[in-house]
Formats: sequence, structure tokens, C-alpha cells
Amino acid sequence: MKLDSLPRVQLSFEPTPLQKLRRLAEYLGLNQIYLKRDDQTGLGLGGNKARKLEYLLADALQREANIVLTVGGPQSNHCRITAAAARACGLECTLIFRGHPIEQAQGSMIIDRLLKAKWIFAKDQTREEKMDEMAKEYLEQGLKPYLIPAGGSNALGTAGYVRAGLELARQCQEQGINPDYICCASGSGGTQAGLILGCHLGGLRARVIGISVSRSVAELTEKINMLLVELGAMLDVDVSALHPVQVSDDFVGDGYGRPTKLSQTALELCAALEGVILDPVYTAKGLGGLMAMVENGRIPKSSSVIFIHTGGMPALFADTELYWPSSGPLKAEKGSLGS
Ligand SMILES: Cc1ncc(COP(=O)(O)O)c(C=O)c1O
Repeated sequence: MKLDSLPRVQLSFEPTPLQKLRRLAEYLGLNQIYLKRDDQTGLGLGGNKARKLEYLLADALQREANIVLTVGGPQSNHCRITAAAARACGLECTLIFRGHPIEQAQGSMIIDRLLKAKWIFAKDQTREEKMDEMAKEYLEQGLKPYLIPAGGSNALGTAGYVRAGLELARQCQEQGINPDYICCASGSGGTQAGLILGCHLGGLRARVIGISVSRSVAELTEKINMLLVELGAMLDVDVSALHPVQVSDDFVGDGYGRPTKLSQTALELCAALEGVILDPVYTAKGLGGLMAMVENGRIPKSSSVIFIHTGGMPALFADTELYWPSSGPLKAEKGSLGS
């Protein structure tokens, strides 16, 4: 397969574990639920972005870049892990954050600082405009910048999740698991696009469902379809026989990063029943969505389901007033799964 010939630097621990969540399955009345622990990839406190960066950083090194630039919010997991990946490859890193400077570093920004990444706020420009401006400046200074799009979600980065899908298919075969559904939180769409193709190539018949944390179904579906076409061309594989992309935007709530009762319930339930810590922005919304789909019948209770834990836990230590208001966290109540 052409994927094997793409240059790649090993940055993550793999395979990540596939963990059976017996107590959560019992609580939900679901046949089986497994957690694919991509929060355990290791690099920069772990998470899905490490897999994408293995291909992106290999490309940067091949092009003899010496500084990596990328964009995100101040709490971006992608930015934090990019900063760690750059260090692991001996490169410098500049992060372009949306909006205006904020007073105090918290959560991921603390790690960015530790990794000695430079950060710049885009203020009234778009992040991409600011990144282009910085790249020009670096070129004038004689540096060789390498630009990575938001979430690392171009075809090359997404190849990391084709690889993850193949890894998951192998694990399922070894452990005798035959999943009906694979669910993940979807932001920029690269994780879901890569999984769709990787799981298909690995022979899994499961449908991959993305739970959007921000974008509408139409926007996210278009992005994922575009990535699949680009992946097909890059890897020389036929993508015409894939299942139609399945995305839900029912669980976004008030918007990106804003907790919902359901996301808070998922966060607390997973910790209380399994001792597993999710993140409040992505995986809590994702698992919350999955739980609601089990309750409303979109995912039948007889199903075997795999949820991808994509990391992001440093966000638990940022914006604490939002997630843990002085009055205490939003309460998880039994039977409160309905969105
Ligand atoms: C923890 C976490 N989970 C899920 C996602 C979504 O991945 P993607 O952008 O590939 O859709 C992200 C993206 O930033 C993330 O940081």
C-alpha cells in the first residue's frame, strides 16, 4: 500500500490500547463499548494530533524546514502537540492563536511555554492571514518555514488516521471484536476522514459516526468528503465505494468549547464508572452524543461500539470557571442523557 511508502517520523506510542468499558456498557444497556486510547499517544501529553504530525513533520524535515507554524485557539491541543513534535524533531515552532492576547497562560498554553514555542495572537486578522504574514517574515530572515493547517487536517496529516484505522482493524481481529459503530468527536474532520478510509481498508464493516463539536453537518460532511477524495488520490486507493459520511451536529450546544448538560454528564459518568478522564471540549461532547444516540435508538442497544478517545485533557485545567463554576460542576443525573 502507498501509505507505507510515505515518509513518517515515529512520534507516538503505538498501538494505543483498546479498552473494554464494562461498567459504562452496563449503565447504557449497550452490548459492548470499547475505548481506543489515542489519548495515550504520548507526545505533548497525548492525543490524536500526534498521529497526523508523524507525516507532517516528516514532510517538514524532507523539505529542510527549520521552523513549523500552525494555527488554533489558545487551548488548542493541535498547537500544543505540534510544539512538542517540532521539539522532538529539533525544529522551532510558532503558534498563531485566534483573537487578542490573554493575560494568563493556563492549560495547554503552559505546556506550549515549556516547549518554548513562540505564540502570536492574530487579533483582527484571520489566523491564516497572520500565519502567511509570519511565514513571509521568517523567509526574509533566511529561515525555512513549514506551514500546517488548522487541526493538521490536510490529506497528508489525515494519513495518520488511515494508519490508525488499520491499527484498530488489526486489534479488532486479534481480540475477536466485530464493531458495528466507531464514534469520534469531529472538529476539522481529519480524524474521522482517516478512520473511515483506514477502517474500510482494514476490512471493518463498522460505520464511522462523527459527533461535531462546532461545524454544521453540511460543512463537516463536505470537508470530510473533500479529504477522502484527496486521500484517495494521494494513496492511490478507490474511495468511491465508501459508506456515505455520517455526522451529527445535534450535540454542539451553544458552540465550540461550551459545555452542555450532556457533555458534563459524559465527563462525570466516564470518570465515576470507569476511572477514565475525558476532555470537556471534544471527547465529552463526543461520548455524550454517543450515549444519547444509544438512548434514542440511532445506535441499537445490541451494538458493539468503539469510541475513540482523542485526548485533550489539559483543557480540564483551563477556563475553570466555565467547566467548574464556583457553584460546582453541572450535575450529572441518571436518566439525563436526552439532548
Ligand atoms: C482532543 C481532540 N479530539 C478531537 C479532535 C478533532 O479532530 P479533527 O480536528 O481531526 O476532527 C481534536 C482536534 O483538535 C482534538 O484536539
